[in-house]
Amino acid sequence: MRLVHLCRLDEAPAPGELREFTVEGRQLCVANDGGRLAAVDNICPHRQGPLAEGQLEAGRVLCPWHAWAFDLVDGVAEHNSAASVEVFPLEIEDTDVLVKLA
Ligand code: FES
Repeated sequence: MRLVHLCRLDEAPAPGELREFTVEGRQLCVANDGGRLAAVDNICPHRQGPLAEGQLEAGRVLCPWHAWAFDLVDGVAEHNSAASVEVFPLEIEDTDVLVKLA
């Protein structure tokens, strides 16, 4: 794993919001869940919906296309445990948000 710059802290989504970022060619969906930042793969494994255009609800991101809900901690889909999105650990360093990539 390597730490890569994701964004400045003031560019991160506000509490309750989602925002898409592209880092080294990967699209990430960054969520601010009550002040806690989390990042998952932005591409829904169902039919490739853009998760950052969905909604954040109770620690889950809801895909805008067919409402599959993915847990922000383990990435697993709520109603289909065989489906999941990759979760990317984040770190805050001074005024920057860093993401761990494989
Ligand atoms: S594309 Fe995401 S739920 Fe269908």
